[in-house]
Amino acid sequence: MNQFNFYNPTKIIFGRDRFNELDHLVPKDAKVLVLYGGGSVKKFGTLDRVLAALPNREILEFGGIEANPRYETLMKAVDVVRAEKIDFLLAVGGGSVIDGTKFIALASYYDGDGLDLLRDRSITANLKQALPLAAVLTLAATGSEMNRGGVVSSPIGKLGFGNDLVFPKFSLVDPSLTFTLPETQVANGVVDTFVHVMEQYMTYPAEGRFQDRTSEGILKTLIEIGRATIDNPTDYDLRANLVWCATMGLNGLIGAGVPQDWATHRIGHELTALFGIDHAKTLAIIMPSLWNIMRDTKREKLLQYGERVLNITTGSEEDRIDQIIETTRQFFESLGIKTRLSDYGIGADQIDSILAALELHNMTALGERGEITLEISRKILEGAI
Ligand code: NZQ
Ligand code: ZN
Repeated sequence: MNQFNFYNPTKIIFGRDRFNELDHLVPKDAKVLVLYGGGSVKKFGTLDRVLAALPNREILEFGGIEANPRYETLMKAVDVVRAEKIDFLLAVGGGSVIDGTKFIALASYYDGDGLDLLRDRSITANLKQALPLAAVLTLAATGSEMNRGGVVSSPIGKLGFGNDLVFPKFSLVDPSLTFTLPETQVANGVVDTFVHVMEQYMTYPAEGRFQDRTSEGILKTLIEIGRATIDNPTDYDLRANLVWCATMGLNGLIGAGVPQDWATHRIGHELTALFGIDHAKTLAIIMPSLWNIMRDTKREKLLQYGERVLNITTGSEEDRIDQIIETTRQFFESLGIKTRLSDYGIGADQIDSILAALELHNMTALGERGEITLEISRKILEGAI
């Protein structure tokens, strides 16, 4: 097991109908900016519940943060923060609203060009000041409610950033708020969580027994409840399990002390930026093909996952790996998520543009060993057609 620091200061307030606790969680004297997305929180009453729970405070609203939040929109919120002297941010929404709020929290204290914070991860990671923020989660997928990272769509690409200062102070995680999600967003949540676990698991053995078995537990749970929670959208316990898997899948716990990959995400972000495909769907396209191309370096962990999670134990190693990749692809498809570029109208003629974007963003040595060069990314994309 490798050396690691583990730090996660976010308080999770989990369960149904706990809005009344917002009053003591949000500082009494704060001037609060409540941020949200395209309107689902208005339509389904969540925003009203948040506002009702915060009486006797100065509160402003900022709506319209897009899915895959746009830099230009977030910088408008930064203007509001500065002009109004806001001192607490409350995100109400899914990963996009929470990520956007994290960016605003950092950018509000940054005097240079806001794009620097996306252009150079080290600038962002070293910022010493950010506005405090918290979240009311309405979509379980990204883990953003309990982590230090975010992803923003900008003129220079869809790019990630991170800083300990943007761990939410608390997140209200009420699984029943996700009951109103369309089926495809629930399926996205299952797949995004599954792939987050895989990015921290499907590498090479590193004696991380706790990390491996915790990851395998999350993966098994997702396979068990994935379809069921889509089919039974108001079953609280099914949804509660999905939500908790999503939070624990990307809060630092299972990735501590073990090698991590993240190539599927990096390539996936280019697909979202170029073609507007939902984040989770890009992952379902890339990961099976990536495993196929990288099957030698991932061999031991592929076989371990096959045995411990999928019960695939017979046949030659090559046969088992074929079965493991196919079974995983079928799991995604069974949730209604298509796993081929061609399913989204993307053909071989567009691969060059994806590779050019990867090159522009210095994504030329991806994976747990930096072995995924542009040439290997090309093979992965060709295999994903
Ligand atoms: O905008 P509104 O109207 O609110 O609608 C949203 C949006 O259209 C809707 N929605 C959210 N909660 C709802 C709901 N509709 C009905 N009922 C509800 N309760 O769902 C749509 C998608 O929302 P979004 O926030 O975009 O989804 P998600 O949570 O999947 O977030 C995706 C973003 O997070 C980034 C992705 O790249 C993408 O930009 N990620 C963030 C990570 C992190 N911070 O650690 C890691 C991830 O790998 C990921 O990259
Ligand atoms: Zn993701």
